[in-house]
Amino acid sequence: MTERKPVIINNASLYRVAVGKKNYPEDGLPEIAFAGRSNVGKSSLINAMLGRKSLARSSQSPGKTRTINFYRVEDELYFVDLPGYGYAKMKRTEASRVGKMAENYIVSRHTLKHIVLVADIRRDPSENDAMMLGFMRKNNFRVIIAATKADKLNRSEIVPRLNAMKKKFSLTDGDVLIPFSSETKTGREELWEVILADK
Ligand code: GTP
Ligand code: MG
Repeated sequence: MTERKPVIINNASLYRVAVGKKNYPEDGLPEIAFAGRSNVGKSSLINAMLGRKSLARSSQSPGKTRTINFYRVEDELYFVDLPGYGYAKMKRTEASRVGKMAENYIVSRHTLKHIVLVADIRRDPSENDAMMLGFMRKNNFRVIIAATKADKLNRSEIVPRLNAMKKKFSLTDGDVLIPFSSETKTGREELWEVILADK
């Protein structure tokens, strides 16, 4: 395996908390959005990627992130923390409002360079995951899936689980599936490499 130099982030801060277009940044920097089920660990993954403990607020209870949060990284790009989908306990009207807000962002944002689909390594894709994946393919986004909470599995369980996910998500060559842990930072450098690659 090749050794990667860790990416060190000196400057990262919460730049905008958006509920709609009018709050998005206007400077045209590329954006990397993190989408996925509620509670899979999107905010924790952002913290791990940025080398911060709690810049993005995470929580044990699902439905924590309910706005579109733009983190400005080294004045070069934005990490976009999206509210999670599929949180059954959220009021239906609230879930629909939050879901539409995230969808509007994803379908209309011209500066969106990558969408990273964040999924729990222990779970099969949900209907919403499949929809997101379909959207990514249709709109020529590279399929990048971060399979989080890899620390919850034994070493020997990881490869079989990744193979099962490849099947269930119908992944093909060129798609990227990265086992990730915000606890141990497994997958961090690999995900940075993919994010920073031109395509
Ligand atoms: P929403 O904002 O509700 O959509 O959730 P989220 O996807 O942002 O999840 P969040 O980062 O808030 O994490 C949810 C819970 O999972 C928290 O209790 C985290 O500590 C835990 N968690 C996240 N990532 C990992 C991981 O890699 N390993 C382990 N063991 N726990 C994790
Ligand atoms: Mg969150």
